[in-house]
Amino acid sequence: MQIHKYERWWMAFGLAMLAAFLLTIGFAAYADNINPPSDLKQIDPTKVAQTPPFDHPALRRLADGTYEAYYVAQVFSFTPQSITVPLGSKVSFYVTSPDVVHGFFIPKTDINMMAVPGWVNTQTHVFTRKGTYLLICHEYCGIGHQNMFARIEVK
Ligand code: CUA
Repeated sequence: MQIHKYERWWMAFGLAMLAAFLLTIGFAAYADNINPPSDLKQIDPTKVAQTPPFDHPALRRLADGTYEAYYVAQVFSFTPQSITVPLGSKVSFYVTSPDVVHGFFIPKTDINMMAVPGWVNTQTHVFTRKGTYLLICHEYCGIGHQNMFARIEVK
């Protein structure tokens, strides 16, 4: 089938519009410094095991009685595996990943975020019910994804 002159013109026009569109969103992303959501600190993903506090990820009690819980998410586990806090505790969770993107989800709480290599994500929750909470990876991360979870005990 023969391509008519005006069809070529429209094809060229379409490609030019596509290029203009891609350049526009590319520039907008660059200009706005688009990053993963939340208030974030950067971390070298190749040095997580040497970077405090992620060199010893754990629960810490602050002077005001609130808690900070530092987690490393990596194929296919969370560290720490289990933490225990008293009922009513306000806990700020911090998470990073040295390998791939993982999920960080605690059902029945406000905590639902991503563990992204190169970034520290954080969210806070006040535990107003006793019990065992599961922390689960809800982002497919490989063959052991469905086994990637940890526990939070509220007593
Ligand atoms: Cu980690 Cu899915």
